[in-house]
Amino acid sequence: MRAIKADITTLKLDAIVNAANSSLLGGGGVDGAIHRAAGPELVQACRLLGGCQTGDARITKGYRLPARYVIHTVGPVWRGGGHEEPELLASCYRRSLELAVANGVRSLAFPSISTGIYGYPVELAAEVAVSTVKAVRFDGEMVFCCFSVGDLQVYERLL
Ligand code: AR6
Repeated sequence: MRAIKADITTLKLDAIVNAANSSLLGGGGVDGAIHRAAGPELVQACRLLGGCQTGDARITKGYRLPARYVIHTVGPVWRGGGHEEPELLASCYRRSLELAVANGVRSLAFPSISTGIYGYPVELAAEVAVSTVKAVRFDGEMVFCCFSVGDLQVYERLL
């Protein structure tokens, strides 16, 4: 398990995780970047999934991405921390890893789910991310893909 600073759409791994919204039809942030890089086939595939609840995940192919699969998960919107945000965020990591294992994924990158547009403080989110992933058995390469040096430092301190 390690943290890197990169654009997740450039990673040549079995799967990358997308911080999506419950429609799964695209948006801004990492979601927008993934849809742009994957091409229009991705949103076509997502349309067939019929959405996804907060804390859950779905898998599609990666289309034009270097990654073979995209695992779409829906993080919680930060509402102060008393609305099950940590439990829902932990569930995103667990469900994503379950789908990865079920699909034979041996290398996987997570973005910092919920810490952009959804406003989850990165220090708190990174603690949930690292502790949740550490508690799951995953035989393969696990990467936390940070988009800023500041986020990378937060993750590195915890790893
Ligand atoms: N590679 C890696 N990380 C990235 C990239 C990238 N190319 N682009 C942004 N990040 P966000 P959320 C980082 O806002 O908070 C969308 O509209 C970003 O700096 O993408 O879960 C969805 O459709 C931050 O650290 O996701 C939802 O509506 C992290 O990715 C909503 O945003 C997550 O930020 C989800 O919000």
